[in-house]
Amino acid sequence: MDKLVIEGGVPLHGEVKISGAKNAALPLMASALLAQGSHRFHNVPRLRDIRTMQILLKNMGAASEHDKVMEIDASRIGSPEAPYDLVKTMRASVLVLGPLVAKYGHARVSLPGGCAIGARPINLHLKGLEQMGADIALDHGYVIARARRLRGARITFDQVTVTGTENLMMAACLADGTTTLKNAAREPEVCALADYLCAMGARIEGAGTPTVTVTGVDELRPSSCTVIPDRIEAGTYLAAAGITGGSLRLTGCRPDHLEAVIQKLIEAGMSIRAEGDVIEAAANGRINSVNVKTQPFPAFPTDMQAQFMALMTLGSGVSLISEKIFENRFMHVLELRRLGADIDLDGRTAVVRGVKHLSGAPVMATDLRASASLVLGGLAAKGVTEVTRIYHLDRGYECIEKKLSAVGARIARVKE
Ligand code: EPU
Repeated sequence: MDKLVIEGGVPLHGEVKISGAKNAALPLMASALLAQGSHRFHNVPRLRDIRTMQILLKNMGAASEHDKVMEIDASRIGSPEAPYDLVKTMRASVLVLGPLVAKYGHARVSLPGGCAIGARPINLHLKGLEQMGADIALDHGYVIARARRLRGARITFDQVTVTGTENLMMAACLADGTTTLKNAAREPEVCALADYLCAMGARIEGAGTPTVTVTGVDELRPSSCTVIPDRIEAGTYLAAAGITGGSLRLTGCRPDHLEAVIQKLIEAGMSIRAEGDVIEAAANGRINSVNVKTQPFPAFPTDMQAQFMALMTLGSGVSLISEKIFENRFMHVLELRRLGADIDLDGRTAVVRGVKHLSGAPVMATDLRASASLVLGGLAAKGVTEVTRIYHLDRGYECIEKKLSAVGARIARVKE
């Protein structure tokens, strides 16, 4: 297993190119199941989760190549199944459920089990498919879904769910009639998926608003598209500039996808300038402590909560960080404390009292974004920080140590 060894205390300066978004690429790859033929995706990041989705699709008979462009050929789907081994390593595997039932009338998908950041059930995905006429049964840990042809339905989500919205939107494209999704997720990744589905011939209106309307068509055809930039990767590098007292220029971003994060970083005292696809960010001395509450897009994303908390550990006062999406997304708190952070938990709120400096220590990554927060802590800490279990990080950050080294960080990947 690899670990990252970081000698902290170096302000980062320079340019970082932002990669394609993992959470946009994964649903696009699943959507390839909806149309036979060759789909082409540009700007797909090289990440472990992307590889897992490739393996999942390959097991079903959809071969893919990932060179400069990712090409997926979904002409010969043999077994419409997502096995436990893959679903347990990547919950987004559940994104194949909607496309498989809609296109092949049958899917067998393992139920995801517990998760490091919360219970994360898929009841809303299943309830929606049932409303569209699918028969859903649970058998030996698997969801078995069947439908001769799904039919349009009016579905109101009890709670905003990103992959739930994506799954039902994909399923509705081939359903008979019109489906209305109310209280739908408005994340940029949902809009990017809707754009691709429309390029395939789907009829979707309202993506990016709380009400998405999909009028089913008989058939879709493969197309090509470019994956949108990873807003969470970009946000993580902005926090890296802040926590190290440096300045970074991020290229290939979508500042409009990061407004809530940029707003909070400005409140925290950073200077941020966005123009076109570039964001320039610089720290200005001590960080102000500010409060943050995670909410669905366009509010502050849960996927930036851990990284923002790392920044707040060096704040000038007290910051309250409330996690409203997942009930257990504070695993990084104990590890940040090992770096000298002063954080108390009060239910779903973390009370972060700023300290003057962090000090390097061995820490353990527990999930993807928690890992990123530990890397940020390590970059700022005096002395050496060793981050173990970085396979979590490799799920979602492309070449993180290379990108950080290129802007001055003393960071190395070491085999344990
Ligand atoms: N929920 C239910 N029932 C459902 C679905 C969701 O109760 O059927 C609950 C969840 O337990 C959670 C809330 O609804 O409390 C929102 O979860 P959501 O379904 O939106 O999460 P997700 O779709 O499983 C995606 C991202 C996550 C990101 C969340 C929230 C992908 C592949 N994953 O997950 O990304 O945190 O939305 O924005 O898009 C990450 O990249 O590190 C990551 C975890």
